[in-house]
Amino acid sequence: MEKDILKILLSEEQIQKKICELGKQISREYKDKNPIMICILRGAVFFLTDLLKNITEPLEIDFFSLSSYGTSTKSSGIVKIRKDIDTDILNRHVIIVEDIVDSGLTLKYIYDYLEKHNPASVKICVLLDKPKAHEIDIKIDFLGFEIGNDFVVGYGLDYSEKYRNLSYIGILKEEIYS
Ligand code: IMP
Ligand code: MG
Repeated sequence: MEKDILKILLSEEQIQKKICELGKQISREYKDKNPIMICILRGAVFFLTDLLKNITEPLEIDFFSLSSYGTSTKSSGIVKIRKDIDTDILNRHVIIVEDIVDSGLTLKYIYDYLEKHNPASVKICVLLDKPKAHEIDIKIDFLGFEIGNDFVVGYGLDYSEKYRNLSYIGILKEEIYS
């Protein structure tokens, strides 16, 4: 795997330090709110578990899965629910936990879908954001890092289901997907 990585963008230490800060922020803002953290499969799994260990308030978790990406590095925009949430979120405080925002279309779809269930609130927590790639306005409430438009893998993020188990986030060599 290592030989396919052009450059390490974020080390394990940098990621963990940032997640510790995000955990503290969420703990403060969700005191006595018992939020439901909805993890978007599969990329956000690493982020969710590390984040949970840094939140000191009671919470619940659930999982949601969409297909829109296939094996390409560009979103097809076609969204299909693969796994719905199992929790009733009516009047509950929801935090969407996602790995990365590119065009923003995936997150917008999820946000609008969850809003229809009439939760008390919906906020968005994202590890990586590619602001230059946004195609729509998207408000990120808790953010790890802003990055450029390179395709990145590791720490849960994949290319064609590979590289998720790298402990850092790296830029994938273009020759791998071009
Ligand atoms: P969007 O709908 O264009 O914002 O795409 C978001 C989804 O695309 C994320 O949930 C990821 O699964 C995937 N994605 C976007 N950029 C990358 C990347 O650089 N590496 C790996 N996955 C990515
Ligand atoms: Mg994803």
